[in-house]
Amino acid sequence: MRFGGLVAIDDVSFDIRAGDITAVIGPNGAGKTTLFNCITGFYRPTAGRMTLRSGKDGQGGEFLLEQIPGYRIAQQARVARTFQNIRLFAGMSVLENLMVAQHNKLMKASAFSFAGLLGLPGYRRAEREAVEKAKFWLDRVGLTAQADDSAGSLPYGGQRRLEIARAMCIDPVILCLDEPAAGLNPRESQELNQLLRAIRDEHRTSVLLIEHDMSVVMQISDHIVVLDHGKKIADGTPDQIRSDETVIRAYLGEPEEDDLPPEIAADLASVTGATATGEVRS
Ligand SMILES: Nc1ncnc2c1ncn2[C@@H]1O[C@H](COP(=O)(O)OP(=O)(O)OP(=O)(O)O)[C@@H](O)[C@H]1O
Ligand SMILES: [Mg+2]
Repeated sequence: MRFGGLVAIDDVSFDIRAGDITAVIGPNGAGKTTLFNCITGFYRPTAGRMTLRSGKDGQGGEFLLEQIPGYRIAQQARVARTFQNIRLFAGMSVLENLMVAQHNKLMKASAFSFAGLLGLPGYRRAEREAVEKAKFWLDRVGLTAQADDSAGSLPYGGQRRLEIARAMCIDPVILCLDEPAAGLNPRESQELNQLLRAIRDEHRTSVLLIEHDMSVVMQISDHIVVLDHGKKIADGTPDQIRSDETVIRAYLGEPEEDDLPPEIAADLASVTGATATGEVRS
């Protein structure tokens, strides 16, 4: 993906396996969000291919994502996402946010409003199912009591969970989450880990996760892809990534003689699982 002279994603290739939580990590500006924007149709990549095979053994269909118009990717290929900066309909209620997510399905059932106006049974059933699904996900993310509150009035952690619930309402094959743990406290962050594991295990949705919080990444990922300056520099299991010299250098620069500042040493320890000394050149 090029922006003028800048190659934001440079020949990156990797697999997201069905039923895995795959994390994309890397320093600021590495190209993580740009990668998501390509996969989810917000950008059309300048070159390259992104193939999605859904269903058992790919029998559900094959989608060449770079060829589907961006606004159709969620509906057709069932790729759902959340945003680095929360984007909810702040003035609508929590429940309404989840109904809007199912708008396409409801429009189809209403034969583009005709059957809906007449209150025909097919539409009523679709509407009931949409409400049931919304309630299921509200319960799953612990927001049932806030169903009628405006989305904008929820505390930050609640808004993050509502975004995930909204994405799940389209029954995605892949759920793409851009820094879902950002700004969460340690308890909320643990709850998020549980929710993402449940989404993977109970709903068979593959998760693609961008995250800076290594306690989340290392605990729940099956597979980690590391980007730096738009290139893939590592790809493997959490254990492989933890001990990968290139990854440690990309995050921290070359180590030197003196001691690391404590906050960086703690960051490094959470990546490598070790205690680190040595200075960082940034
Ligand atoms: N629409 C755009 N136009 C021009 N340059 C862009 C655009 N979007 C992203 N970039 C550039 O692409 C590079 C990658 O940005 P991106 O937002 O993907 O990084 P990131 O890995 O998500 O970083 P962060 O961890 O800070 O969120 C940066 O140099 C950024 O300035
Ligand atoms: Mg980003």
